[in-house]
Amino acid sequence: MCGIVGVTGGTEVLPNLLDSLGRLEYRGYDSAGVVLGAAGLPLWRRRRAFGTKSLADLAADTGTAPPEATWGLGHVRWATHGRPSETNAHPHTDCSGRLALVHNGIIENYLELGDHLSALGHQMASETDTEVLAHLIEQRMSEGAGLEDAVANSMTELRGAFALAVVHADEPGLIVAARRVSPLVLGRTEGSAMVASDIPALLGKADEFFVLDDDQLAVVRPGSIVVTDSNRNEIPLQPRVVEWDLQAAERGGFDDFMSKEIHEQPTAIADTLLGRLLPSAGSPPAYRALHLDEERLSDEELRAVDKVFVVACGSSFHAGLVAKHAIEHWARLPVEIDVASEFRYRDPVLDSNTLVVAISQSGETVDTLQAARSAAAQRAKVLAVTNVVDSSMARESDAVLYTRAGPEIGVAATKTHLTQIIALEILALYLAQVRGLFYPSELAMLLGALGSLPEKVARAIERGGEVEAVAQRLAGVRNFFFLGRHVGYPVALEGALKLKEISYLRAEGYPAGELKHGPIALIEPGSVVVAVATRTPLWEKVLSNVAEVRARGATVVLVANEGDDETAALADEVLWVPAADSPLLAPVIDVVPLQLLAYHLARAHGNDVDRPRNLAKTVTVE
Ligand code: G6P
Repeated sequence: MCGIVGVTGGTEVLPNLLDSLGRLEYRGYDSAGVVLGAAGLPLWRRRRAFGTKSLADLAADTGTAPPEATWGLGHVRWATHGRPSETNAHPHTDCSGRLALVHNGIIENYLELGDHLSALGHQMASETDTEVLAHLIEQRMSEGAGLEDAVANSMTELRGAFALAVVHADEPGLIVAARRVSPLVLGRTEGSAMVASDIPALLGKADEFFVLDDDQLAVVRPGSIVVTDSNRNEIPLQPRVVEWDLQAAERGGFDDFMSKEIHEQPTAIADTLLGRLLPSAGSPPAYRALHLDEERLSDEELRAVDKVFVVACGSSFHAGLVAKHAIEHWARLPVEIDVASEFRYRDPVLDSNTLVVAISQSGETVDTLQAARSAAAQRAKVLAVTNVVDSSMARESDAVLYTRAGPEIGVAATKTHLTQIIALEILALYLAQVRGLFYPSELAMLLGALGSLPEKVARAIERGGEVEAVAQRLAGVRNFFFLGRHVGYPVALEGALKLKEISYLRAEGYPAGELKHGPIALIEPGSVVVAVATRTPLWEKVLSNVAEVRARGATVVLVANEGDDETAALADEVLWVPAADSPLLAPVIDVVPLQLLAYHLARAHGNDVDRPRNLAKTVTVE
């Protein structure tokens, strides 16, 4: 986990580092730290560990920073090895304090390396895996290597994942950066250069962007970046096209990123559909065909697919559950789905006709990345659904379907989750299309239904005031059940996850039909049951399950289609949503009031919705 940044060149090194760290906070905020270099002076370091206040506290304590600093590093931490504390915060230094580094990832052999280095006389100050790296590089330098060679040599001794950036007081202006598994991007202007964990951290600061690949090393100086591979051969730099602007990464007048991102959902969906539904020539135009623009798998290869696996984590996994329904129903292909952290450890049976769909907002979640890699090693075709262009998963997969949600900063996924469902439905329809399973009129109807989603989602968001009122009436409740069936089940799981993540309230997501096999024993007067009761195929059965909990005294909150008084009659509270034109598209609309319910309950409890405790947005550790 963690976010790292490095800046060299220019006069605004410290403000730039702090600003970028603010944009990286979604990756962790257990602590924050910076180190600055000024020619002829020792390195200046400050670290703070005050939870979500760490960065603000750090920024307020920079009065003694050298004004002439021309290079430096910054870090926001999500603790893995060693509790969140100032001592464990990055940047870490070597024994001399003249070398400092920041790291994202986990060095798996740090104990072994640490023992060896301690035996050579190195003194560790922290409990972290990262500090061992500083001493390892120091050791290689003491044996005669320059900073660059010392980092390169050290890399060969490391097991695990890392994105790291290193500076030394004796090397003014130089940042040496390297990566394996954990992401690292680079930016350059005429007089400066930067490294960071992601592109938004560099928006508005760099003219050109580059992505470092696994086992590559970058030598970064003002206005200059030289990248070498593991054999130290220079790699020509390929600038990446970045379409995100700075404003997209800022709050835009909303109280927090989560509400901004919820409100951006209609546009995000429209953008994700853009160019993928091809209208016919007629007037009025009717949608008639699908088009995947970033696909590197031929229709021939897709036609040969005889089994699909879906792998993902968290909200992406819930989107995957919807994909299972869509692919099985429309494309008539068998679909298995697994949380990514289980997939590669259970010996799944794959071959070259298997399509593995890896879903990840960030494209960097290590469980999903490694699941995709193990699938590729078994010759399966891997298609990534991700929001981040040039992320590790995007680059390594056989095909990519991008969600076009723009940067998502709030830790709880919202717009990326909805656009994942859209992308996956497009994929399901595309598979059906290449397999020749649709009549044109049927496809046109479904594509039209997809096209109507932005407007319907916007209407669901407009009802936010009603959801807020329901949240206020439920503000004293601590236990929630979320029920759904068919495609309503993933919606229930996502609603429960959102509530857990940002409200810290107990929330169980359950398939409604399974309730009677155990969990119903927990229902008593005062229990709150939220059920997805829109008109999807098992609507009547959901209502029967709702009647069962009602009879046992539960307070019932129903997500229901506008005007459906029959459903509303069973509810104590109703969360109204427009009806989808096709049942398999309903999750995109139905999840919106559950996002809003979690949001307003979290606010009612005084929580920081963008930065929930113990969580990080991009989980780059197993
Ligand atoms: C973390 C986040 C979740 C997210 C999950 C998967 O746990 O807190 O919101 O759904 O990672 O992330 P990904 O980037 O792979 O979609």
